[in-house]
Amino acid sequence: MVHEVRGVVARAKGQPVSVETILVPDPGPGEALVKVQACGVCHTDLHYREGGINDEFPFLLGHEAAGIVEAVGEGVDDVAPGDFVVLNWRAVCGTCRSCRRGRPWHCFDTHNATQKMTLADGTPLTPALGIGAFAEKTLVHAGQCTKVNPEARPEAVGLLGCGVMAGIGSAINTGGVSRGDTVAVIGCGGVGNAAIAGAYLAGARTIIAVDVDDKKLEWAKGFGATHTVNSRQSDPVEAIRGYTEGHGADVVIEAVGRPETYKQAFYARDLAGQVVLVGVPTPDMTLELPLIDLFSRGGALKSSWYGDCLPSRDFPALVELYLQNRLDLDRFVSETITIDQVEEAFDKMHRGEVLRSVVVFK
Ligand SMILES: NC(=O)c1ccc[n+]([C@@H]2O[C@H](COP(=O)([O-])OP(=O)(O)OC[C@H]3O[C@@H](n4cnc5c(N)ncnc54)[C@H](O)[C@@H]3O)[C@@H](O)[C@H]2O)c1
Ligand SMILES: [Zn+2]
Ligand SMILES: [Zn+2]
Repeated sequence: MVHEVRGVVARAKGQPVSVETILVPDPGPGEALVKVQACGVCHTDLHYREGGINDEFPFLLGHEAAGIVEAVGEGVDDVAPGDFVVLNWRAVCGTCRSCRRGRPWHCFDTHNATQKMTLADGTPLTPALGIGAFAEKTLVHAGQCTKVNPEARPEAVGLLGCGVMAGIGSAINTGGVSRGDTVAVIGCGGVGNAAIAGAYLAGARTIIAVDVDDKKLEWAKGFGATHTVNSRQSDPVEAIRGYTEGHGADVVIEAVGRPETYKQAFYARDLAGQVVLVGVPTPDMTLELPLIDLFSRGGALKSSWYGDCLPSRDFPALVELYLQNRLDLDRFVSETITIDQVEEAFDKMHRGEVLRSVVVFK
């Protein structure tokens, strides 16, 4: 059977998105059909629309989602119809060289559904990050579904599917932030604020939020920032050193994805400290640093893919922390919208008015 549903499609580079009828096939072997309940609007969706990821138009956008499994294909036994799941875009394969070395969070061969969803005329769609969840139903690889506690609010926990997990994981998994650490986060959008929430959860002693927008800094305090720095008004490296007895922070998380903010992160960490790059740069960006500074400052420079998360380990645990009021995921939900308002949500995101607009399906 083919399911005819509405979905948000980006047809051409830079063009506004449109809501169109799309066709979703029944799940084949290893696949799952998910009735989407909520899906956050992420910067990456806008990147797809702008042709910044690749030019495999038309795209079916949306990838930070939660929903109910409606049907599963042959050979699927980890999830079953009726399960409440958060979707993930790194379904680990279990057999690549990274998985076999016991590092599945770095899996080099993650899974997506093999069948295609299409436009009504049969044109195949490219689902954003292999998900495509701005649609009433979507087809994914069963490994992209992580079962979580169904008492949780879909619009809040769906955000674990991308930006919020990337941020929390950049602090806890990649940066290894632990009790008593000093942490600075540069760029306090959805990802940066989630990094602050992660550092807070892990027991960091000092959490310094840096942004160019005072509104974001206000929000950062709500997630656990102990100090804020507007880097348009004061030098962030000096300020971070100032709040850490002149030393710099143990872990500095870059959540913008630009060379100038990366340099700030590099120089704002303590000797032998860590820099974690979770912001995603564009291919034209380059970085120049004195090699001697790389050596003499020591420590580690890391990148964080999806917060180095393991969805099967991290999603259920974070959902429990949310249900115990120890992780405020509701605070990331700035507004809920309908599937027809995604283009407006891109404008709001562009103007920095929201952390996340979340599409809710009735
Ligand atoms: N590593 C991953 O797996 C992963 C996953 C999702 C998103 N991301 C990336 O994380 C980054 C942040 O995503 P987001 O959703 O939070 O975006 P966002 O646009 O909501 O946030 C970016 C923030 O950076 C601030 N900013 C911009 N220029 C700055 C500067 N010069 N100094 C300080 N702050 C500055 C903005 O005011 C804003 O608050 C993006 O690059 C995104 O692509 C990475
Ligand atoms: Zn693998
Ligand atoms: Zn995303």
